[in-house]
Amino acid sequence: MHDTLLLFGATGDLAARMLFPSLAHLLRDRLLPDGFRVVAVGRQEFDPDGFREWLSERIEGFVGDDMKAREWVELFERTEYVTADLADPASIPEVLGHYAERPCVSYLATPPALFIPITQGLKAAGLLDAPSRLVLEKPLGRDLASAREINAAIRACAAEEQVFRIDHYLGKAAVQNLAALRFGNTLFEAVWSRRWIESVDIMIAETTGVDGRDGYYAKSGALRDMVQNHILQLLCLIAMEPPSALDADSVRDEKLKVLRALRPMRPADACTDVVRGRYGDGVVGGRSVTGYAPPEGTDPETFVAVRAYIDNWRWAGVPFRLVTGKRMPTRSTQVVVNFRPVSHWLFEHPRREKAAPNRLVLKLQPEEAVELGLMNSLAGPEWGAQELKPLPLDLTVHRETPRRIAYERLLLDALIGNPALFVRSDEVEAAWAFIDSVIAAWTAGSCPVHPYPAGSWGPKEAEEFLPGALTEPPRPERPTPRSAL
Ligand code: BG6
Repeated sequence: MHDTLLLFGATGDLAARMLFPSLAHLLRDRLLPDGFRVVAVGRQEFDPDGFREWLSERIEGFVGDDMKAREWVELFERTEYVTADLADPASIPEVLGHYAERPCVSYLATPPALFIPITQGLKAAGLLDAPSRLVLEKPLGRDLASAREINAAIRACAAEEQVFRIDHYLGKAAVQNLAALRFGNTLFEAVWSRRWIESVDIMIAETTGVDGRDGYYAKSGALRDMVQNHILQLLCLIAMEPPSALDADSVRDEKLKVLRALRPMRPADACTDVVRGRYGDGVVGGRSVTGYAPPEGTDPETFVAVRAYIDNWRWAGVPFRLVTGKRMPTRSTQVVVNFRPVSHWLFEHPRREKAAPNRLVLKLQPEEAVELGLMNSLAGPEWGAQELKPLPLDLTVHRETPRRIAYERLLLDALIGNPALFVRSDEVEAAWAFIDSVIAAWTAGSCPVHPYPAGSWGPKEAEEFLPGALTEPPRPERPTPRSAL
C-alpha cells in the first residue's frame, strides 16, 4: 500500500467536503499505513500553519460527530502544504521532485483543464514511474474530443493500469449491491431481459441546488454533470451481461459493451426523448430558495430526463428513462425495473384496482432498500378473497452505523492499487460519445429548457418520465401484525 498522497486542488471544495474528511475517518479507523502522509498542493500561498488553520475551519461540518480532536491533530500533523503553479509543468519537478524517492498516489481534484499540465509535470518529476499512480476526479473532459485529448496526454505519461478515474457513485456500497443482487441470486437472471422487462427507470433527485458552483454549472448542466458518469454507470450495472469474474477488466469490458450499444440520439427524437429544465424560485423542505439564474449567453439545465435505448439482444426496444434534477422535493436515488404485465388476468372483481405489474425497486439513497412489488391476496381480510393488492416484499436495510463516505473506499483502493471501482478510458469515451449525440440532437432540434419551481419534480413536460414508483412518498410504517404483539 502506498503511503504518500499528493493531493492537487487541495484548497478546492471537494477536498474540504469529501477528501480530507474521508482521510480523517480512515486514520481514525487505522486503515492507513503508519508512515501515511498527505502533500496538499495548490496555487494559494499560506504561512507555515496557514493551510491547517484554513482547512480546520472548512472541514468541521463534514466529518462524523464522533471525530475527536486527537484524530484531527493526527491528520493535520500528517499533512503538509506545498504551493505550485499547476498550469506550469515545470513547476512540479521543482517543488515536488524530492517525493519521487517513494511510490506515490497523485490525486488530481482540479478542473480538467489542469490534468494535462499537472500530469506532464508529474512525469518530468519521476512521480509517475511505476508503481506510482494517478487518480483523476470527474469531469473527465466536457465532450468526446476533450476526453480523448486528456486520455491521449495521460497515456503518454502513465500506463492505463496506473490511472484511476473516479466516479464516486461506484464507491457507494449500495451501488456495489446492484451487482451483488443481480449475480448473487438465481431469481433475477432468468427474467432480466426484454422478454420480461418493459422499462427501467433510473433517477437521481437532489434537494440541493447549484450552490456556489454557478460557473461550473453554466458550462456543464445536469446532463454532463450527472448523466455522463453516475447515471450511465448505474445503467451499466443494471444492463451489463454477467462478467466471467469480478476483476476490474472483466467488469469494465461488460460495462463498455453496454455504453457502446447505447443508441445515439437522433435529432428527430431530441424533443420527445429528452426534456430539460431549470429551477426557478420555490420551496424545498419548507425553506424558500431562489432560482438559478445562469450567466447571460448560457442556457444550462438543472434537470434532465432522457429516454435511452440499448441496441442489443437483451434490451432491444426497452426504454431506459434516465432522470436527474436539482431542487427536487426529496433526495432520492433509485432504480425501478418495471416488469411486463401478466399475459392473462384471472382475478376479476368489481372493486378491484387494476393489476399492477411486478416491479423491482432498488433504493440507493438516502435510505437503502430493495422492494419487489408483487400482487397478493393475503393483504388483509377486509379486501376479501380473490381480491388482489400490490404489496412489496421489503428488504430495507437498517444500519446501526452510518455508511462510509464513498471516497473513503475509493481513496483506500487507490492507495492499495485496486482498480475495480474506477472507470477505464474507453468507458469514459463511450459515455461521452452518447452524451455528445444527445447534445447535438437537442441543439439541432432547438429544444427549450423549461422552467420548474424549486421543490417540484421538474417541468410538467417531463411527467411521462416520472412514473409513480419514482416520486411516490415513502410508505407509512406498517402496523405491527397482531400475532407479533
Ligand atoms: C457530483 C455532482 O458528481 O455528484 C454534483 O457534480 C452532485 O452536482 C453530486 O450534487 C451528487 O452526489 P451524491 O453522492 O450526493 O449523490
